[in-house]
Amino acid sequence: MPQVSKLTSTTSAGGCASKLSPKILDQVLARIPRWPNENVLVGFDTADDAGVYKLTPEIALVQTVDFFSPVVDDPYTFGAIAAANALSDVYAMGGQPISALSILAWPAKGDLEELAEIVKGGAEKVHEAGCTILGGHSVADNEIKFGYAVTGLIHPDRIKTNAGARPGDVLVLTKRLGTGVISTALKRGMAKEADVEGAEKSMLTLNRAACEAMLSFDVHGCTDVTGFGLIGHAREMALASHVTIEIDPRKLQFLPGAVEYASQGAIPGGLKNNREFASYCVEGQSEFDDLLYDPQTSGGLLISLSEEDAEGLERKFPSAYRMGRVIAKSGKPIRIL
Ligand code: CO
Ligand code: CO
Ligand code: CO
Repeated sequence: MPQVSKLTSTTSAGGCASKLSPKILDQVLARIPRWPNENVLVGFDTADDAGVYKLTPEIALVQTVDFFSPVVDDPYTFGAIAAANALSDVYAMGGQPISALSILAWPAKGDLEELAEIVKGGAEKVHEAGCTILGGHSVADNEIKFGYAVTGLIHPDRIKTNAGARPGDVLVLTKRLGTGVISTALKRGMAKEADVEGAEKSMLTLNRAACEAMLSFDVHGCTDVTGFGLIGHAREMALASHVTIEIDPRKLQFLPGAVEYASQGAIPGGLKNNREFASYCVEGQSEFDDLLYDPQTSGGLLISLSEEDAEGLERKFPSAYRMGRVIAKSGKPIRIL
């Protein structure tokens, strides 16, 4: 069993489980005043992955920010995962990250060697993405938090939002589910080392290759699966696209250990919040119900495209798999088959 060091034990609720409940977020967003701007191609109204601002008819900025408490114990790995996670929202829009600013909360008496490893892990992952760090901001805080604000570029006509899913489309996911449950099992000393390594490998993988692969097909809609879990992000896609999304739980792929730890009660606080918030829009149930709500860190892309293009994407990017489809809006936004 991996030793639980102070990194994950500094978190109050187990990594990204300390994310604000989507219910609270929804209420606050509704109260922000609106000043329409014709250059805002994607704003915060549609709950998309990143905002998009048009600079010229050929170039738009994609901007996003993400930071969280440690989900793993190794500082270097945590930094790299935080970077992969923050970059992911640019990839989910079909963009290319170009620059990043780091965000750090660090205890006044924290270990400087550990901090240096976190920052190094982040910097190397940002570099792997072909992206440059321009600066950042840090504050003293008892709970460690780390992440990035990322800026990317995109052609205004090639933005992949969560609003384009069409009836008849097939849904493809590019990573396995279960990082939240495995992080919680690690924090409780229940997780096997091999399972933690499997989850880390998945979280460390940039969505860059998945994004590049999807861009060679006619993608109708895309989002990444992160803190709100598969159902939370599928819900956003279903509502924004005015469709119903069917998920086939038998086709879902889970990280090794995830199903076992969930059944043993390693349920992140964020999973319960996600279920409480989104279960009203879900019809049907499955034996993997917990994992459908599991908050993912640096999760995969959820892509909506035609059946033919989905087959092509599976061939081009073998970790992508079909796990659902889009039908005309009928009944609730999500149906579990
Ligand atoms: Co996202
Ligand atoms: Co995000
Ligand atoms: Co998107």
